[in-house]
Amino acid sequence: MVFHILTLFPELIKAAALTSITGRAVRQELVGLDIIDIRDFSINRYGSVDDYPYGGGAGMLMMCEPVFNAVAMAKKRVTGNKETRVLYPTPQGRIFDQSMAHELSGEEELIIVCGHYEGVDERVIEEVVTDPVSIGDYVLTGGELPAAVIMDAVSRLIPGVLHNGSSADTESFENGLLEYPQYTRPEIWHGKEVPPVLLSGDHGKVERWRFHESLKRTGERRPELLRKWLKERGIW
Ligand code: ADE
Repeated sequence: MVFHILTLFPELIKAAALTSITGRAVRQELVGLDIIDIRDFSINRYGSVDDYPYGGGAGMLMMCEPVFNAVAMAKKRVTGNKETRVLYPTPQGRIFDQSMAHELSGEEELIIVCGHYEGVDERVIEEVVTDPVSIGDYVLTGGELPAAVIMDAVSRLIPGVLHNGSSADTESFENGLLEYPQYTRPEIWHGKEVPPVLLSGDHGKVERWRFHESLKRTGERRPELLRKWLKERGIW
């Protein structure tokens, strides 16, 4: 997977993507990171990339031409000139979830255009964006953090990125339920004991306990997820 990230703040993307597990994945070349600074595509000598919105209103908008040219550069860098999805993080997009992370992890390359300030001129969005994506119903100052969220969630699904191959599929959402609670040493901490079944060495019992805890936790914290899970199995 190669991510082509178009941004006015390359440092923000580097800080997020080159740290910890995703950083290791980049160093091991399991994930490619191509950061394109939209400011390099400014169309005037002052280096400006934004302007006032027609009709008035707060803030500045990113202009069409620098964004368009930056996307054109990203497309040129796509291996074999394939059709590549162009994601645009925006609160107005499709809600990003684990199934979308799986869907995107099947792509060979992705282009993500990070807007900043009040957003981007609608005309260039219409022309280049294939997938407006929201990471939740709240408003951030730009698309860089959502891009980092998307990269992280997608990268960890790429074979080899998580060293423990099975750990991605026991996580929350992978089976439609939240994950069970986990414990490590010491056996007693602040008077709280690790559930004895986890020390029993009986794998069947441990599995059943974890499944039960998963159901219980999902019912308590995300009842709508549990209802969906039960409906899909004809139990509700
Ligand atoms: N840009 C600003 N807020 C956002 C959000 N919630 N999701 C994706 N992109 C955004």
